[in-house]
Amino acid sequence: MTQALAAAPDIVVTPQPTGFGAEIVGLDLSKPLSPQVLAQVKAAWASHSVVAFPDQPLSLEALEAFTQAIGPFGVDPFIAPMAGHPNVLELRREPDEKATNFGAGWHSDWSFQKTPPAATLLRSQVVPPVGGDTLFADCSRAYDALSDAMKAMLAPLRAVHSATRAYGTQGVFAKETEKRTMEIIVSSEADKTLSHPLVRTHPVTGRKALFVSPTYTVGIEGMTLKEAHAILGFLFAHMTQDEFIYRHNWRKDMLLMWDNRCTVHLAEGGYDGHLRVMHRTTVAGDAPV
Ligand code: SIN
Repeated sequence: MTQALAAAPDIVVTPQPTGFGAEIVGLDLSKPLSPQVLAQVKAAWASHSVVAFPDQPLSLEALEAFTQAIGPFGVDPFIAPMAGHPNVLELRREPDEKATNFGAGWHSDWSFQKTPPAATLLRSQVVPPVGGDTLFADCSRAYDALSDAMKAMLAPLRAVHSATRAYGTQGVFAKETEKRTMEIIVSSEADKTLSHPLVRTHPVTGRKALFVSPTYTVGIEGMTLKEAHAILGFLFAHMTQDEFIYRHNWRKDMLLMWDNRCTVHLAEGGYDGHLRVMHRTTVAGDAPV
């Protein structure tokens, strides 16, 4: 289904066939958007969770400006930003790199923060000829598909989040021996934990979504690790089933904006021997409720 948005007839929002994610054309994001068009973009993003804007050859400054039109920058820890662009990360993997590609496990960005980012924006600069897809799981639809009994059991639970498995002193990056172009900052700060509701309510749509991921969720408050692993293991397998997935296949100069409040994502890799360069910003969010 393709629908022209009423107040902005030149914008066309085409939902992905799976019903999760959409493509938006008819915009030049290198220029400021009118308040009406911006509202349409935000509404499409809230409805579809992952929106792709093809053919947007944006400068870093234009990427920064569009990000700030969506909302204030988020805080990106543990990765050195680009020189002169403190709110932009370059996700760069050289053809000869053997280290695992960045973002290779399912996660919602920085969910271990007190106020994790609402949005992440990722723009493709150099796209490899094979591989490099980003997969998204729809955590709202995954929640809806649970039984009422399971929903009732999950309702009062708080999940424990931490960056420790990735950026902690004993984490994956601390133990890495292969060369990596991206400058990762391993820190004991990453070993800290905090908890969020395991099921969160989206502040715009009011929909409930599972808010856990195998990368950053390390337990459930009040439960033994064995108990938490059993429940989380079930949820991770449930939410990443094919029926909840949108696979994003990149072309050069695409901008993707996703909603970290109701999705998890994974960078698939599969492009060894080829360069991949992406530029990434985040938009601040609220404390999950
Ligand atoms: C990420 O932000 O997790 C990386 C996504 C990607 O590089 O496709």
